[in-house]
Amino acid sequence: MSKVEVNNIQIAFDETGSGSALILLHGFPFNRTLWREQVFALSPTHRVITPDLRGFGESDVAESPATMADMAQDVVALMDSLGIERATIGGLSMGGYVVLAFYKLFPERVSALILSDTRPQADSEEAKVTRAKQAKDALAEGMAGIANSMLPKLFTPASVATKPHDVQRVREMMMTTKPAGAAAALMGMAVREDHTETLAQINVPTLILVGREDPITPLSDSENMQKAIAGSQLVIIDNASHVSNIEQADQFNSHLESFLKQDKLANDVGA
Ligand code: MLT
Repeated sequence: MSKVEVNNIQIAFDETGSGSALILLHGFPFNRTLWREQVFALSPTHRVITPDLRGFGESDVAESPATMADMAQDVVALMDSLGIERATIGGLSMGGYVVLAFYKLFPERVSALILSDTRPQADSEEAKVTRAKQAKDALAEGMAGIANSMLPKLFTPASVATKPHDVQRVREMMMTTKPAGAAAALMGMAVREDHTETLAQINVPTLILVGREDPITPLSDSENMQKAIAGSQLVIIDNASHVSNIEQADQFNSHLESFLKQDKLANDVGA
């Protein structure tokens, strides 16, 4: 793990392998270890960078709200500090919200996009109220409430029965998240911009992946993104819910590998 100071906070990240740069952004309320299987599979061919977004893992907690644009600014500053001009940027769920904010702000820094179990829409008014309550509860009582309510939506019932180590690992990731970091991100997600219109502007190769049984960012959201992003590819991961990258890591990785091979020329030109 390394740390770099960007925008007056310390951001922790792992950097593994060499080749074209691939930056993967975790979802809420996880940390960079969400991508363990992808780092293992892709670092033989890529320079894989996995930051802890502000407020998560070993990165500092900053002010609240921690907006998706703040997180995108941290990622571009991390790229600057590592001398990376362009990269493939991927994100799962909240990580995907940050990817879309990043593309809107810094399209020239992106060679390709990976959007996993995510969506472009802003929160509804009802969702904003829920976020505020979750933030308040996390600050008062810790992460157990969020972990308990999210866990059944993250894995399919079959995975819960057959992959207890993965379930336990994800639960621990949630339980070790700092409540103040989670609260700041919840308030940031509540005020996030709607990126439905951004999709039509995307002109880099884009891979969309989604667990077929994802109840948090359902398949229909990914189908709509695929229609709106010219030339994008949609991959549906069978027997997977929201953390499809962990639940069906082999399937997920083989799609990522074929996409990154197709995209190799663009990356090599841009890196
Ligand atoms: C995530 O996995 O990042 C969250 O479920 C996203 C959200 O709460 O909207």
